[in-house]
Amino acid sequence: MSFNPLEQAGIPVDEQFRNWSELNVTPYDKATVDPYTRTRVILMNGIEVESIIFSHQFARHTDHPELKRALATNRRVDAQQQKAVNGLDPGDQNPLETTVGYEQVAVDLTAWLARHEPDPMIKQALDFALLEDFDHLYRYSNLYDLLYGGHADEITQHLTEITPGRPTIVEHRHPHDEVRTHFDTHTVDPLTRMHVMTITAAEQQTMNFYMNHGSDWIEPIARGLYAEIALIEEQHVTHYESLLDPLDSWLATWVAHEYNEVYLYWSMLQHESDRRIKALWELHLNMELGQLQVACDFMRRLEGREPAEMLPGTLPDTPVTFEPNKDYVRRVLAEQVDLRADGTDYVPVGDLPADHRYFTYQDTVNEGGAPSEQVIDEARAQKGREYRDETEGESPVPDLREPAASR
Ligand SMILES: [Fe+2]
Ligand SMILES: [Fe+2]
Ligand SMILES: [Fe+2]
Ligand SMILES: [Fe+2]
Repeated sequence: MSFNPLEQAGIPVDEQFRNWSELNVTPYDKATVDPYTRTRVILMNGIEVESIIFSHQFARHTDHPELKRALATNRRVDAQQQKAVNGLDPGDQNPLETTVGYEQVAVDLTAWLARHEPDPMIKQALDFALLEDFDHLYRYSNLYDLLYGGHADEITQHLTEITPGRPTIVEHRHPHDEVRTHFDTHTVDPLTRMHVMTITAAEQQTMNFYMNHGSDWIEPIARGLYAEIALIEEQHVTHYESLLDPLDSWLATWVAHEYNEVYLYWSMLQHESDRRIKALWELHLNMELGQLQVACDFMRRLEGREPAEMLPGTLPDTPVTFEPNKDYVRRVLAEQVDLRADGTDYVPVGDLPADHRYFTYQDTVNEGGAPSEQVIDEARAQKGREYRDETEGESPVPDLREPAASR
């Protein structure tokens, strides 16, 4: 059942501050947690981080004291929410196990958004990066096996397959091939705007996580793999953020952030199986409704615009949902694994001229080998096999099937 957030008062912002014991939440149990509870926690942490950083940037670009104070207040609450959400992540889940969760988010969030995306241009952008994060899950899962003898399927619970996607080594592109055409803010479907904001925040959080955790490791292969995949996540942030219309004002973008937080907390609570965490999503939904009212009031007062002009009349009927997307991912993999970016287009690799900057960039970064290949070679050498979890049978792409010698 959907509703119009603009008609909901929510909790007034000045009643939203919480004490330390409320923020120091008890983590979930990593052995029994629903994998999609873990992915909801990862996603909503990334959404809060984006809101906080966006608000800091906005504050640096306005000289309106009352607006600065309102931003500071909403931002403080978002910063508290971030602690309450990220604190659910338990300390006995090491960063590599969390990383497997991050890539499960990337696969099942991106695929779900693509399946529900009304704009074909945005759907193509989602499909394109989907195959790359799908491959990251496979590379990190092999690292997990190598370092700890760990089986990533105990984290993913077979809800997401683990098998090669578009191989990470070929994902490295010249920066000029990462900048896309943006949607038009005057004509964009509100759902598209929210999809792009959501995936941009999620990819940015993944980029930040790998930037910070790449140096946690002693093993050179682990440090190298984090460095390599962190760079792809930077590409993904560039790719997705370029889809947003830069014509939107700071105020309109603030309203859109608060609205998207409303939509996502509402979405998360629809399928949450953990009652305690569901109550948290519900509390945060009511907080975001209060924050949205503040942002909307500033838009009315300072821009003389009605927020309803840019927002949908009601929340979308369908909540953003974490669920298996195995058939969809396989179909995209079979059809699009060979696509590469050429400026704002996507073309089969065979169509790129031999002197394309893609190949020059590839030669530069992959000279001396890529950690994403070395981790598989080392798994085969040490374990006599690589790690996969192909619940629906062998890869739809013959070239990506496991070599017989390693099986
Ligand atoms: Fe928030
Ligand atoms: Fe990724
Ligand atoms: Fe990514
Ligand atoms: Fe917020």
